[in-house]
Amino acid sequence: MSDSRLTLAVQSGAIHLPGTGAIAVFRPRAGADLSALPRERVAVVQGNRPDHDAWARQGYRTDVAAPEGFAAAVVMLPRAKAEAKALIARASAMGGTVIVDGQKTDGVDSILREVRRRAEVSAPYAKAHGKVFQFQVAPGTFADWDLPLVQTLPNGWVTAPGAFSADGPDPASVALAEALPEKMPGRVADLGAGWGYLSFHVLERRGVTECALVEAEHAALEAARMNIRDDRARFHWADATTWADPEPFDHVVMNPPFHTSRAADPALGAAFIAGAARLLSGHGTLWMVANRHLPYEGPLTAAFREIREVPGPPAFKLFAARRPQGQSAARSRR
Ligand SMILES: C[S@@+](CC[C@H](N)C(=O)[O-])C[C@H]1O[C@@H](n2cnc3c(N)ncnc32)[C@H](O)[C@@H]1O
Repeated sequence: MSDSRLTLAVQSGAIHLPGTGAIAVFRPRAGADLSALPRERVAVVQGNRPDHDAWARQGYRTDVAAPEGFAAAVVMLPRAKAEAKALIARASAMGGTVIVDGQKTDGVDSILREVRRRAEVSAPYAKAHGKVFQFQVAPGTFADWDLPLVQTLPNGWVTAPGAFSADGPDPASVALAEALPEKMPGRVADLGAGWGYLSFHVLERRGVTECALVEAEHAALEAARMNIRDDRARFHWADATTWADPEPFDHVVMNPPFHTSRAADPALGAAFIAGAARLLSGHGTLWMVANRHLPYEGPLTAAFREIREVPGPPAFKLFAARRPQGQSAARSRR
């Protein structure tokens, strides 16, 4: 039996679920406790591929968008307030019961205050440094809180609100794009491609035959499709740490993520480095940028035999890593 806040709130009667109809659950992370909800009625709305797949593996119905006509919605509050409000807008779109579960550190109290200005909210259930609350809503009550899935910036880039660097190119990626060689012959993979800034610049290099954009966030990849209109681009909504391709790559470029939704997580960057080594041919090169304070020398040394720091702005470390460790002789001859 679970003792998560949502489960306890349902068990205590503080939160009531409607007796019938689908329950849309917005953006639950893998491992969140949904055991209080009847599984056959739950539709997980999750655009992050690793989380989406984790729910699908457990037999949940999953999609990147909300299903038609759900009777209730649960919002697992993310930290970014604009995204939290957009999820509440989508959860309220059909009208009906909306349940919000959030940590104090993710701003649940401030969201509660704002929701109360527009809807009659049940007594919040407080537990474990957070709150769950419920309200009945008429369709569209929070429509003005929504965000477009993608947006066009004044400089022409299309980005995904709520996803990485939605306001414009990330300075670390700009530094890496400037440091890439003039010629990058062959196949290139961009791991954690976001809305495609690095891939766009890769495709300007001479000799590129193909560029695979591998990105976990569905909306960011949709933005990338709009930024990159090039037949050599391939778009993969996938977990870059496990993604595989039948043919090896000649180059991998990346500005790896250094945190999961809340906590700093250098292990994720390390998994990207190991993934890059797996994807490269024996003569291939990883081009990578990271904030200077991040400890990537260890994972790089574990995965590559030759690592060189490339000149760039002082805030960042730029690496060119070659000769992936542990490749079979057959693969390194290609
Ligand atoms: C630091 S950002 C870089 C984005 C983009 N390359 C750029 O330069 O703007 C890291 C990207 O990795 C993505 N990401 C995080 N975890 C991922 C995973 N497991 N698989 C694929 N992409 C992931 C994030 O959504 C984000 O877009």
